[in-house]
Amino acid sequence: MKRSLLKLYYKNTTAEVIGEEHGITKEQFENLAKITSPVTDLLDAERQAGKTPYRQLPYKTENLKNIQNLAADLMNQGCENFVVLGIGGSALGNIALQTALNPYMYNLDSDQRKGPRLFVFDNVDPVQLSSFLDWCTPQLDKTIFNVISKSGRTAETASQLLIVRKLLTDKLGAEGFKNQVVATTDPEKGTLRAIANDAGLRCLQVPDGVGGRFSVLSDVGLLSAAICGIDIEELLAGARAMDSKVSEKDFYKNPAMINAAINFHYYNQGKKNSVMMPYNYALKDLSDWYRQLWAESLGKTKDLNGNDVFVGPTPIKALGTTDQHSQVQLYREGPNDKLFTFLQVENFENDLEIGPEPQCAPELGFLAGAKMSKLLNSEKKATEYALLHDKRPCLTVLFDEVNAHTIGQFIYLYEVTTSYAGALFNINTYDQPAVELGKEATFALMGKEGFEELAKKIGPVTKIDENYIV
Ligand code: PA5
Repeated sequence: MKRSLLKLYYKNTTAEVIGEEHGITKEQFENLAKITSPVTDLLDAERQAGKTPYRQLPYKTENLKNIQNLAADLMNQGCENFVVLGIGGSALGNIALQTALNPYMYNLDSDQRKGPRLFVFDNVDPVQLSSFLDWCTPQLDKTIFNVISKSGRTAETASQLLIVRKLLTDKLGAEGFKNQVVATTDPEKGTLRAIANDAGLRCLQVPDGVGGRFSVLSDVGLLSAAICGIDIEELLAGARAMDSKVSEKDFYKNPAMINAAINFHYYNQGKKNSVMMPYNYALKDLSDWYRQLWAESLGKTKDLNGNDVFVGPTPIKALGTTDQHSQVQLYREGPNDKLFTFLQVENFENDLEIGPEPQCAPELGFLAGAKMSKLLNSEKKATEYALLHDKRPCLTVLFDEVNAHTIGQFIYLYEVTTSYAGALFNINTYDQPAVELGKEATFALMGKEGFEELAKKIGPVTKIDENYIV
């Protein structure tokens, strides 16, 4: 595995390339350096004070043995299906790691698989879950459910757990529930902790003070990764390597600082949308993970002084080349209100040579014999060129290759970029008060005790008014 470092390429945001109206001038970069550089000390102080424990996750190597031992125990127990029950920060990282680091046909082809099949349920769709449970019920003894929830009272995860608990207890008895479920939750408190203690479940921890969206490099993301054959030591090593880069004091040497500053600049210039567009299928779910990280961390009503600011760039996920045929018309000719971040890979794990052109189609000769990776990266460059032609600013994160080390780096780079951006926006990066109201409203609508008053308020607002139906 190559341990090369990720690079952030930012020339295509400069005035030199896209002009002064949309590009960043040297003077503006100097100003950004001035306002962003002091944030490094602020983030360091927060870290030293233990306020951002996610920064230390890559150093918790002593914990890896626990995770690997548990993964080995589960395999010895005959685990063929590993099912994550979780939502938001308790699922998106797991999905992203799996898509990035395991083959596309992992679940279907046992030859391509180093561990059990992996399924992640981060929704409460009865049709989807029934289909899965119908398939897996005859093999429940070969299925491990990893329920991940810091609180345990998140309605989605709790409902999945209760369904699975009943199924397991009905089919395999109380012992079955105990043997087939692993809980990842708060070390001491919360609903899931109580259930786990009561049933004697094996447990891992959601570390204290680490919000779901910053938790992928903890037990939350690492158990499913480890059991599916992902090198979790390399993931953490990559994050540590990136920690040195994002701890640099020099603005021009610190990719998190520059990335956050550029995003902050464009937000203030009216480019309030941030599109992440990987040109590599393996990286596709990292942009989904990024979408939650960016949105929940930076979308805030109040700043730290209590002023109303209603701030927050809107993260958008796209995939090259798929979305060239779906979104690029808008991206080029629609409003110039977006910053683009491409993810580009230099060396692919596997490649294909495009076959010869048929005699009747000589116009396809330009493709014949070329590597598919060359076509993919040419399409990235072509899209970037087309966007730059229309003065749309573009960043690129350059991966030498996709492996556990570079993915660990990427995760840490974006987590720290988010901390820088939150500090620039002067908001609380780590809370998500707006998500809570929706969770409580669900409790109210489902008749939970203590939420009666809220239920009364929701009724009139959400009741269908027949006068407005056509
Ligand atoms: O990032 C977050 O904190 C959220 O997305 C949570 O992960 C999500 O709401 C699930 O919460 P819990 O882990 O308590 O079930």
